[in-house]
Amino acid sequence: MSKVAVITGASRGIGYETCKELAEEGYHVAAVARSEKPLKELANSYPDIYAIPTDLTKENEVDRLVTLLKKDFKSVDILINNAGSLINKSFEELTLDDWRAQLESNLISAVHITKKMLSLFNDSAHIVNISSMGGFQGSAKFPGLAAYSVSKGALSILTECLSVELSDKNIKANALCLGAVQTEMLEEAFPSIEAPLTANEMGNYIANFAIEGSTFYNGKILPVALEDPE
Ligand SMILES: NC(=O)c1ccc[n+]([C@@H]2O[C@H](COP(=O)([O-])OP(=O)(O)OC[C@H]3O[C@@H](n4cnc5c(N)ncnc54)[C@H](OP(=O)(O)O)[C@@H]3O)[C@@H](O)[C@H]2O)c1
Repeated sequence: MSKVAVITGASRGIGYETCKELAEEGYHVAAVARSEKPLKELANSYPDIYAIPTDLTKENEVDRLVTLLKKDFKSVDILINNAGSLINKSFEELTLDDWRAQLESNLISAVHITKKMLSLFNDSAHIVNISSMGGFQGSAKFPGLAAYSVSKGALSILTECLSVELSDKNIKANALCLGAVQTEMLEEAFPSIEAPLTANEMGNYIANFAIEGSTFYNGKILPVALEDPE
């Protein structure tokens, strides 16, 4: 029986590429995001990718997703919490609703899906949270990214907590703090920046880390960036 991976934020960018690599490595892949069309295109190109359109900020949609996962797969080996959004506004301009939206999409949605999936994880499953260098303690900080960076910092600390709380089930959790990757998120937020890595390069790295990383790491917050974190 093939192993099973669940990837959020699979409709474009890094998540889309991670799905393809995991399918090529022989995994059954549940691809999760809100946009149905690109997910369906992925599923049509790869017989082992299953499109599950879901808004992760909506409780009833996450419940429906987990019910479908339980029906279609006995258990899950890998969860990659990759879905995210970025609001680029100065601290002064950020509204409380902006803060809530960032925490909802980058932290609470990962908390919710992880909690709901607890009974589905295999012994030795690997949870990979996709964080950011902006949320890495001591890294260079950029104006406009307060809410985003804080949400990612919290996701990183959640990872450390999960590695302890889930150790009795032998479930491993690690966070990857990515540097700049050329995706639509980066282009929309910072049109003038040219990233040193493509979504395909980063997707391949994340897929392979999700498969092998839990042998070497648990509860770690790992920078994945070419630039110096300080
Ligand atoms: N690109 C970079 O330079 C960079 C650097 C550091 C960290 N990261 C992190 O890496 C991850 C992927 O980034 P990316 O650059 O590939 O971004 P992207 O191109 O904007 O992709 C984000 C993905 O998240 C999904 N998503 C957003 N909100 C969602 C929701 N409520 N429910 C379900 N899916 C949702 C989007 O799909 P739908 O819109 O279809 O829902 C999309 O598939 C993000 O967590 C990002 O913060 C990126």
